[in-house]
Amino acid sequence: MTAPALAMEAAAQMTQKTFKLTDPESGRSSALPVRSGTIGPAALDIATLYKDLDVFTYDPGFGMTAATESGITYIDGDAGVLLYRGYPIEQLAEKSSFMEVAYLLLMGELPTAKQLQEFTCNIRYHTMINEWLLRFFNGFHANAHPMAMVSGVVASMSAFYHDSMDIHNPRHREIFSHRIIAKLPTIAAAAHKHSLGQPFIYPRNDLDYAANVLNMLFAVPCEPYQLDPVACEALDLLFVLHADHEQNASTSTVRLAGSTGANPYAAISAGVSALWGPAHGGANEAVLSMLEQIGTVDNIPKYLAMAKDKSSHFRLMGFGHRVYKNFDPRAKIIREMSHKVLAALGRSDNPLLELAQRLEEIALKDEYFLSRKLYPNVDFYSGIIYSAIGIPRSMFTVMFAIARTVGWVAHWQEMISDPGMRIGRPRQLYIGATRRDYVDIGRRA
Ligand code: CMC
Repeated sequence: MTAPALAMEAAAQMTQKTFKLTDPESGRSSALPVRSGTIGPAALDIATLYKDLDVFTYDPGFGMTAATESGITYIDGDAGVLLYRGYPIEQLAEKSSFMEVAYLLLMGELPTAKQLQEFTCNIRYHTMINEWLLRFFNGFHANAHPMAMVSGVVASMSAFYHDSMDIHNPRHREIFSHRIIAKLPTIAAAAHKHSLGQPFIYPRNDLDYAANVLNMLFAVPCEPYQLDPVACEALDLLFVLHADHEQNASTSTVRLAGSTGANPYAAISAGVSALWGPAHGGANEAVLSMLEQIGTVDNIPKYLAMAKDKSSHFRLMGFGHRVYKNFDPRAKIIREMSHKVLAALGRSDNPLLELAQRLEEIALKDEYFLSRKLYPNVDFYSGIIYSAIGIPRSMFTVMFAIARTVGWVAHWQEMISDPGMRIGRPRQLYIGATRRDYVDIGRRA
């Protein structure tokens, strides 16, 4: 049995411990068993709560609810720890590559050299998209946001692969995984080229994953395009850092949509749409707009005051996280990397990076941010690197989506392979009108 399989088995075990909950009025009680994972806090299993006590739990934003067991990614938000299949993100960032991390997340183990080569070949084999799919872009205005185009085109992929969409067939699931991971960059680049009015650039299977992305984004048919190794390396590392983050909003969306038995392209498209929001993956675009809005160090206090003012909608973008109550380990890596990338590209004197650092310094001395444990997250510095390597702001969240597709697929696979899978269906605390009789339209006040 593989290590993740063992971990899952351990995670599935109930401990002896139970919490007893008693209704003070009726005296009825429920013994709630505790489920413990391999690491991290245990979870109360409330499956019998409604049957025993006629109550549900109330948890807006699902801040306290584990909706599933999972063996893919672990986060300790207080300690700032992130593990993919047990491996620390710092080690993967330093030593691994996006293709290797994709294999790890999907298969549970680091690949051998042969396995990595086979996996990479499988991904390369699927990089082209159907020419008819390409024509869909003509239906979008040139000023359409690329995330709108990507979510629409990904959803429409289900119209092309009728013969390999049986979600209960492991081989079909595998082909889907390779297709979506391979084609997302092609679709993303097509969206970008459409915005520019430039010809679409076909994928090049002699290039590795990140280099192919950059080539499709920036090459033109009329002259050779010189790939910058610094940009390729930086993008590959950003993909590694964004590949998965356990049950975040977009991953949970993919799981929820997929739990209905919907085809996986529809589920991934739902994930792309969920990622777009500024509280989630859309924050990378919003951070750069915010930094430009702040403009100079002198303006920082004014904007910090706005971020603290509850009557203002302004938030410090790229700050705070539902799970991390400490530094986001990815933000630390990206901050370091942004210096290296800018130096290597000869742009060390980047005023936005300087402003971002000053903003971080000032915010982290401020009682408001300290007491709420609001630290820079993955999105705070990533836009500075994307910009430095020439990626336009509207494409930042698309880059995030390319990387996160791997995590979405790993979670979807994990869910569908689970024999205990059920449709995701939260309950509610109803606060609307109680039963009342229909009033004819002429008799309404
Ligand atoms: N600026 C100002 N105040 C903040 C911020 C912020 N960025 N983030 C949280 N707070 C305050 C919030 O107002 C609340 O204050 P109080 O206790 O006085 O009511 C407290 O901190 C707790 O915040 P919350 O809204 O309950 O936290 P949450 O877990 O629901 O939200 C978050 C997490 C990431 C949505 C939020 O911190 C935020 O909106 N940050 C800015 C957007 C951002 O950077 N998003 C990227 C997240 S990381 C990458 C990803 O998920 O894709």
